[in-house]
Amino acid sequence: AFHGAVIHSLSTPGHDLEILPAALLIVEAQGVITAFHKDVKPGEVGSLIDTATTTLHYLSPSQFIIPGFIDTHNHAPQWAQRGLGQGQHILDWLSAITFPNEGRFRDPSHAQRIYSSAIDGFLRQGITTASYYGSIHPEATNILADLCLAKGQRAFVGKCNMTRNSPDYYRDASVEQSLRDTESCIAHIRKIDPEGMLLKHVLTPRFAISCDADGLAGLGQIAAKNPDLPIQTHFNEAEQEITATRELFPQFSSEADLYHHYGLLTKRSILAHCCYMAPHEFDKLKELQCGVAHCPISNMTVGGGFMAAPIREFLNRGIKVGLGTDSGGGFSSSMLDAIRQAMIASHAREVESKGRDKGLKIAEAFYLATLGGAEVCCLEDKVGNFEVGKEFDALVVDWQRDGVMTIVEEEDELDTVFEKFVMTGDDRNIVRVLVKGRMVREVKI
Ligand code: GUN
Ligand code: FE
Repeated sequence: AFHGAVIHSLSTPGHDLEILPAALLIVEAQGVITAFHKDVKPGEVGSLIDTATTTLHYLSPSQFIIPGFIDTHNHAPQWAQRGLGQGQHILDWLSAITFPNEGRFRDPSHAQRIYSSAIDGFLRQGITTASYYGSIHPEATNILADLCLAKGQRAFVGKCNMTRNSPDYYRDASVEQSLRDTESCIAHIRKIDPEGMLLKHVLTPRFAISCDADGLAGLGQIAAKNPDLPIQTHFNEAEQEITATRELFPQFSSEADLYHHYGLLTKRSILAHCCYMAPHEFDKLKELQCGVAHCPISNMTVGGGFMAAPIREFLNRGIKVGLGTDSGGGFSSSMLDAIRQAMIASHAREVESKGRDKGLKIAEAFYLATLGGAEVCCLEDKVGNFEVGKEFDALVVDWQRDGVMTIVEEEDELDTVFEKFVMTGDDRNIVRVLVKGRMVREVKI
């Protein structure tokens, strides 16, 4: 059980923050939240729990608990290339930097070393759930899944499907091989985590440019046979990418039509970027209940979107939206940075749209990083906030740490402390990370 300050987003429309200075959260051994008392004086805790059998953690006055961050779009193999190639357009950046880097994951020892460092780095940022693109290599992708499980991170892990428009050294040998490797990665995760406690395979056609039509169709068939599996791809990211997609698939007038045709748009689809949306594509995403992985950093730094995606319009239409760090494309793996950049981008969008698309409030951007991401991943019954019955994925934040966070003053209320943390704190303030009630990272204080 944990007693102290708790802040999370509510599931109600508007997703307001609930800010509780003295709450008591009770978590049972399997990591499920069994009770959430919202206003409990320290002296009353003993009457609400069995102190003989429960380990009680009193948060210090400088600490508060928030839900773990959900990174809806992350390329694990790009961990070692973050920050490189800023400003390049997408296809140039893939050829010059990304494919040579991802190709190195043919070597399992390289995968072991980089993925281990990457997951540690993401956990340190408070990312308790991530949807990962792996490389094309099934062996490296299985290593990524093994490491997520061993380190206790909740994750979607996808073998990346690529059968064309990349160099020989970084392309699946054939469509058949690509699909066989996918099936074997699906089987691997079902073997190591049979109940899906932490892991799921995610079908991962990189984007249409990398895929042959029969490969997309094959993945669509796998999706139809396995309706529990999420699907992820890059969607309407940049002009260079959209133009190339049109040339390869002239029979479709939009990416929504293209991916829908191949059976890849479902309520479990996680579509990264979504910068350039035709009016009917909004309708289609809403109708098919697809989710958007908003990557506000990479949208403005790499790839050539260089624009603020229409997040307010997605929210107004009731389309699910979460945040992604897009490591590689994004230069930062901090979800706090993603939150801030989402706000900046939304304000640019407000100006661009002459005031129609209102900028995001801090509570909304925080919701995108937590509960919104859970909805995009269809995990909202499990994580995203602290409703009773959900699993306890949480961060203990401490504002009294060495670092750069704005100083907290005596008269600051908890909402002000929270705002200071979200806008100026960093991983040094994230002192404990819990997934399913299990401590997966702890800073000794
Ligand atoms: N489109 C296809 N692959 C990628 C990638 O790795 N990053 C980004 N940002 N866009 C892509
Ligand atoms: Fe990406």
